[in-house]
Amino acid sequence: MANLLPLLLLLALLSPAAAGAGGEAHVSAVVAEKGLDFAKGVLIGEAVRSLTPLRLPGVEKAVRVPFLGSIRVAASDITLFHLDVGDDSVIHPGDSALVVVASGVSANLSMAWNYYYDSWLFPIEISDRGTASILVQGMEVGITMQIKNYNGSLALSVSQCGCNVKDLVISLDGGASWFYQGLINAFEDHIRAAVEKAIPENIIDGTSKLDSFLQSLPRSVNLDNVSSVNMTFVNDPQYGNSSIEFDINGLFSSAVAKTTNLQKHPQLSLSCGGASKMLLLSLDEDVFNSALEVYFKAGSMHWVVDKIPDQSLLNTASWKFIIPRLYWSYPNDNMQLNISMASSPVIRITSENIGATINADMIIDVLHGRETIPVACISVVVSASGVAEAAGNKVYGKVDLDNFSLALKWSKIGNFHMSLIQGVIRVFLNTVCMPYLNSRLGHGVILPVVHGFTLKDVYVLTSAEQLTLCSDIAFANASSLASLLVL
Ligand SMILES: *[C@@H]1O[C@H](CO)[C@@H](O)[C@H](O)[C@H]1NC(C)=O
Ligand SMILES: *[C@@H]1O[C@H](CO)[C@@H](O)[C@H](O)[C@H]1NC(C)=O
Ligand SMILES: *[C@@H]1O[C@H](CO)[C@@H](O)[C@H](O)[C@H]1NC(C)=O
Ligand SMILES: *[C@@H]1O[C@H](CO)[C@@H](O)[C@H](O)[C@H]1NC(C)=O
Ligand SMILES: *[C@@H]1O[C@H](CO)[C@@H](O)[C@H](O)[C@H]1NC(C)=O
Ligand SMILES: *[C@@H]1O[C@H](CO)[C@@H](O)[C@H](O)[C@H]1NC(C)=O
Ligand SMILES: *[C@@H]1O[C@H](CO)[C@@H](O)[C@H](O)[C@H]1NC(C)=O
Ligand SMILES: *[C@@H]1O[C@H](CO)[C@@H](O)[C@H](O)[C@H]1NC(C)=O
Repeated sequence: MANLLPLLLLLALLSPAAAGAGGEAHVSAVVAEKGLDFAKGVLIGEAVRSLTPLRLPGVEKAVRVPFLGSIRVAASDITLFHLDVGDDSVIHPGDSALVVVASGVSANLSMAWNYYYDSWLFPIEISDRGTASILVQGMEVGITMQIKNYNGSLALSVSQCGCNVKDLVISLDGGASWFYQGLINAFEDHIRAAVEKAIPENIIDGTSKLDSFLQSLPRSVNLDNVSSVNMTFVNDPQYGNSSIEFDINGLFSSAVAKTTNLQKHPQLSLSCGGASKMLLLSLDEDVFNSALEVYFKAGSMHWVVDKIPDQSLLNTASWKFIIPRLYWSYPNDNMQLNISMASSPVIRITSENIGATINADMIIDVLHGRETIPVACISVVVSASGVAEAAGNKVYGKVDLDNFSLALKWSKIGNFHMSLIQGVIRVFLNTVCMPYLNSRLGHGVILPVVHGFTLKDVYVLTSAEQLTLCSDIAFANASSLASLLVL
């Protein structure tokens, strides 16, 4: 059961943002040293929970006793009920596998025993029974686990798993005589061998459950009724000296696979600006662009504006002197703006900030009686830039207007020069559009995390064409992992 946790953490974190076409990774997640350490702690905790109580096979044997001859002794109900792993354990990525070694493990077992002696020498049958406690100390458990990409899913297998018992002491319960102690000591070898066999067997069994779980994860996760993400893993995990990287082709469905700067190389050098964090999740700007494109194509980028702070601007009377034909054709009529995207917005990420180019068509509608009459269409190209921040399990954004350009696309009210409306549009963008965008970004995007895990102290870094989330993880609910495995 041991090296599964990093994967679960990853899957947890990646569940929203993965997959696409053609074997290129757009999302990379690096589990750093501190993350591996955390994973080790949770894994060992889970392994201990799943291993106890562990029932071991009983045994019966004949013991030769001087003068008496052979006595039949049996041990039954041998149960390992407590494991104490202590602090002496390590997890480290090997060349192509993950190695977990726990030393100095101790275990408590209980057993029942009985003996039976029947000989022609004595006319009566002699027998007795009781219980004993077994203390195992200095046990070492080592697991080498391979994590491979199998047909786009992660496959786990244990390539080596061993358990070695150093000291084993059997003590009789309830002050029985030294004579019995001699008899039950005969079970030492049996119990040692049973423990050394059962622990690896159960770990391998737990791993194969996790393997099935990972393989059964959907390749495509629907975010809503418009977009879905292809969760296909690309490449085998890359092992660093103290970290592991997982690559996922993280584009949204129906997305265009762009050819810009695909991350084909391990980027274990990825850093969190000096801070030591458990998990680094990096998203190519293409992930965002593919998402925007999906929503654009689904036609969900429309916005009708009929209320603005200076409402008088939405009446033809205000335009009497700037666009006289508008006023004379529709005197004192109210107007609305019908804004739609002319193309999918484009996000560019640099080390300084996140920039967006938005290409919109703004149709001016005159509300004449019951009629809505489109009278002109202005193409508005806006450059905005902003930053992303994180708090709790959410990432927030905030953008500011950089500059914009206007062009008249068509008009039924004659040509009018864009410089005449530049000032009004600037105010409109700053007082209506940007606040609207920021209020949406301000709600934040929830980072999906498997139930029971929470992200702690998340922060966001940008670098060329990439957004990186650095985070610690807390494991709040120990039963979650177990319940996942039950699935
Ligand atoms: C998901 O990604 C894989 C690998 O990149 C690709 O083969 C597959 O066609 C993609 N599936 C969808 C539905 O886009
Ligand atoms: C395990 O055995 C040791 C030594 O006998 C004892 O101190 C400890 O309390 C036992 N632990 C449990 C959970 O019974
Ligand atoms: C590989 O994955 C695809 C998509 O999930 C599936 O249809 C196919 O059967 C899988 N192939 C193998 C060999 O498992
Ligand atoms: C998607 O769901 C939203 C809200 O549930 C709904 O308004 C919209 O029409 C749906 N879109 C499609 C394409 O089904
Ligand atoms: C990994 O360790 C080796 C030997 O200790 C060292 O030469 C190498 O530079 C290290 N690699 C990284 C990425 O730290
Ligand atoms: C807005 O304009 C689009 C065409 O760009 C049109 O399909 C839609 O009906 C208009 N909506 C309103 C409310 O005028
Ligand atoms: C904004 O200014 C930058 C740099 O001068 C320019 O590249 C960009 O095209 C401008 N954007 C718009 C919408 O005019
Ligand atoms: C842990 O999770 C389980 C199910 O996933 C839930 O029933 C239980 O209430 C949770 N416990 C805590 C302390 O959150």
